[in-house]
Amino acid sequence: MTARKIIIDTDPGQDDAVAILLALASPELDIVGITAVTGNVPLSLTEKNALKICELAGKPETPVYSGAIRPLMRPLVTAEHVHGKTGLDGPDLPEPKMTLHKEHAVDFTVETLMNEESGTITLCTLGPLTNIALALIREPRIASRVKELVMMGGGFFEGGNITPAAEFNIHVDPHAADIVFRSGIPIVMMPLDVTHKALTSPTRIAAFRSIGSRPGIAVAEMLGFSERFDKEKYAGEGGPLHDPCVIAYLLAPEIFKGRKCNVTVETVSELTLGMTVVDWWGVTDRPKNAFVMRDIDHEAFFAMLVERISRL
Ligand code: BDR
Ligand code: CA
Repeated sequence: MTARKIIIDTDPGQDDAVAILLALASPELDIVGITAVTGNVPLSLTEKNALKICELAGKPETPVYSGAIRPLMRPLVTAEHVHGKTGLDGPDLPEPKMTLHKEHAVDFTVETLMNEESGTITLCTLGPLTNIALALIREPRIASRVKELVMMGGGFFEGGNITPAAEFNIHVDPHAADIVFRSGIPIVMMPLDVTHKALTSPTRIAAFRSIGSRPGIAVAEMLGFSERFDKEKYAGEGGPLHDPCVIAYLLAPEIFKGRKCNVTVETVSELTLGMTVVDWWGVTDRPKNAFVMRDIDHEAFFAMLVERISRL
């Protein structure tokens, strides 16, 4: 088996952390780098959180790069109200001993895509798309060299989660998202329509805790923290586990269902800024630029997560 080469672009975030742990636990994936971006919390925290997660997984050799400090055009919007002051509230994780690589995340992404064989690198994006848009501006030839870009972002049937119309990752940097959706890169999109079906519950959180290892207990503590906010917001038993859907798709694409359609990002209207307008019914002749997921086998998803995290 040749492991699939991936770059994870992320703004950890508890759900980002679980996604990274899932990837680090999976021999089918070769993480060539983790790139941090501003999003859930400012960059100084997302980059540190990425390091903490690699150490939690016992993989301090994972290369981590720091990227964009702010969105392309808009003032930064963060989400401490969901993720806590550190972005990773819940477990008490030690200050990392690992350090960031010196190279900028955008340079690393461009160089990797230009130097590795074309069509072998998959981009996994778990946060705002600022780093990827900057890489595309810096070197447009990367677009045709990406194998696939699998993103957590957007929402259509479910509406938004940061405004009534927009999902957080797209809303924070709608201009970057617009560049990515117009780039020609083959995109797989995990919108809120999927992630709102991947809900935690006390039983599911207990399953992580009962793994008994540091990573298992930390996952239970992270999800216990972010769930507090989500339970109130969605008035349900648990909260959505967004970002791990991206990595789960690489490992078991058959647990997701969707279709190829056009996705266009709203960048002008203040009211609907960052909305992902999905032409689900094919009522325009706009090009089909993304495979948009709508369903998930959530039992299989959580079973995979527990099994993989228990390997760490
Ligand atoms: C997305 O926003 C962040 O808060 C989460 O980490 C996820 O990437 C969900 O809208
Ligand atoms: Ca995220």
